[in-house]
Amino acid sequence: MESAVGIGILGAGVVGGSLVRRLTEDNDAIRAKTGLDLRIVRAAVRDLSKERDFSVPDGVLTDDPMAVIEDENVKLVVEVMGGLDPAGDLILAALEASKPVITANKELIAARGAELIAVADRNGVPFLFEAAVGGGIPIIRPLSETLAGEQIDTVMGIVNGTTNFILTRMAEDNQDFEQALKEAQQLGYAEADPTADVSGADAAAKAAILSSLAFGVWVGFESVFHEGIENLTLVDLKNAADLGYVVKLVAVAEKTPRGICTRVHPLMLPKEHPLAGIRGSTNAIFIKGPTIDELLFAGPGAGGAPTATAVLGDVIDAAREILAGAEVSPAIRFGSGEILDFAEIDTEWYLRIEVDDRPGVLAAIAHEFGANDVSIKSVWQDGEHGEATLLLITHRAAEWKQRAAVAAVGGLTSVRRVSTVMRVDSGTAGR
Ligand SMILES: NC(=O)c1ccc[n+]([C@@H]2O[C@H](COP(=O)([O-])OP(=O)(O)OC[C@H]3O[C@@H](n4cnc5c(N)ncnc54)[C@H](OP(=O)(O)O)[C@@H]3O)[C@@H](O)[C@H]2O)c1
Repeated sequence: MESAVGIGILGAGVVGGSLVRRLTEDNDAIRAKTGLDLRIVRAAVRDLSKERDFSVPDGVLTDDPMAVIEDENVKLVVEVMGGLDPAGDLILAALEASKPVITANKELIAARGAELIAVADRNGVPFLFEAAVGGGIPIIRPLSETLAGEQIDTVMGIVNGTTNFILTRMAEDNQDFEQALKEAQQLGYAEADPTADVSGADAAAKAAILSSLAFGVWVGFESVFHEGIENLTLVDLKNAADLGYVVKLVAVAEKTPRGICTRVHPLMLPKEHPLAGIRGSTNAIFIKGPTIDELLFAGPGAGGAPTATAVLGDVIDAAREILAGAEVSPAIRFGSGEILDFAEIDTEWYLRIEVDDRPGVLAAIAHEFGANDVSIKSVWQDGEHGEATLLLITHRAAEWKQRAAVAAVGGLTSVRRVSTVMRVDSGTAGR
């Protein structure tokens, strides 16, 4: 059987460069294991004069991405340049030319995934993106194939290593947010501009993908609520620990009787929760379903080598499809379904409130919560010299009611400040 498959790569940076090295250095081992002779035909970069930590024969590198797609010896295309443009249109061009596409680009899939999957379907070619969520952790294929028959209830994930590293440093080493971020940047976990990570936007793109695959309903990035970790303080992480919780930035995709709700925000997880022990830059995805009960996938969520391994797995899969010669249909089809607005979701809230230390303050606060249909579960008070800090955990109530209650409490004359609000994991939130 003819086993050679020509590969075109768009981008040869952290992930693409690692992939090039794997395809050259491990070619014999891959051939021995899979029977496939994977050959790099062309690879596009932006700057041809840049020094690379890999070597390829003359003529392989180009600064024209279309030259990669249009090369007749390129039978499948790997997009690892990142960003929405021109990556999206390049992928479209490759799919329209009936070439399978593999990408690690979560931002693009969350924005244009439904369209790209439909074009791949129409052309009968694979469009694979195992590396887009969880880096080296196999999660896309388990969700869309292995678990296709499971009626998944919930997917919860720590899907951003930078923020998990920062939160771990804050909780375990008493570093404040700025110190921990600086260390993450020095170690190469965080970008010079860390906004996408710390704001929760990167995790929201991954949450959109996980939710879409788990429930078979396309959830676009715009329907994912996200809140970041920028405002978390050491005091709140310490309070959470004292109350038996660990704070994590968690992506939650949940199927409730009222619809699918997908969101990213800091969450106080009970210490015994499977995600509570995930430390440093490690990623983990926790899945709950009626027959599989609970599954936990954990490992390196980023980095050139682990991510390239996930890309390589997709390359091998697509190469097999090419050699089999059959038209492929996507592993998953997307139907219609209700999307539940985040404001409707029920959660418990933790609040830290600075108040005047005088009689009647607690009663006034409790009254405002009651008037907004939110009941208080627990209260702790600590204070001296006329000033006190109240810590509250509320019972579950709709997000919009919690917000209205907090606004009303913030308006009381005896309340100096509502310093922090944070959601608390209390099991299923939507029912
Ligand atoms: N890094 C990770 O750990 C990781 C993990 C999971 C997923 N991902 C995803 O993988 C993708 C690639 O990430 P990365 O970290 O490898 O990025 P990167 O290091 O910035 O590499 C991007 C590559 O694309 C090339 N490129 C960019 N724009 C181009 C254009 N218009 N024409 C031709 N070439 C262009 C760059 O060329 P030059 O080299 O000449 O600049 C570079 O080789 C992104 O979608 C990212 O979200 C990354």
